[in-house]
Amino acid sequence: MLTNHQRLVEELNGLAESAETAEDLMSRLVGRLREQLPHFNWVGFYMIEEQPESQEPVLALGPYVGAETPHKRIPLNQGICGAAVSSGQTVVVDDVNADPRYLACSIETRSEIVAPVFMKGKVVGELDIDSHTAAAFTDADRKLVEHCAALVGSYLERTS
Ligand code: SME
Repeated sequence: MLTNHQRLVEELNGLAESAETAEDLMSRLVGRLREQLPHFNWVGFYMIEEQPESQEPVLALGPYVGAETPHKRIPLNQGICGAAVSSGQTVVVDDVNADPRYLACSIETRSEIVAPVFMKGKVVGELDIDSHTAAAFTDADRKLVEHCAALVGSYLERTS
């Protein structure tokens, strides 16, 4: 029998087939993840934005659902978000208040997971999820979040 996560993956794979743009795909993914997983309280993409001249690139907030965040642009060397793109690895933080890298979005957030989006082997963005529950994210959640990040990466590879 399929688990809820497997059923959701099949549905999300379908979204990646039918999405009209990468922005559309990201909007639909964050909406479905938020609707289907009650412990996913804030779900959003940040994409790396190159800056003019010699300025450093930043993570720019893309499609998201959840409370408005003050962090609409994050330098690549700041926050849990910066750590995930700089290392190219998924970062799971069970207790955000115990992590000095954490940039607060909502006082209700207790745990966070961030998975990089790769395009042709290069990190181009990330999928960030916050939960109001401490240590909320299971291994199955991690695989799901990484899968969603990979759907966006493959979409960008196909269409850019
Ligand atoms: N908590 C993140 C910042 C983004 S908000 O959670 C939406 C961080 O520490 O990088």
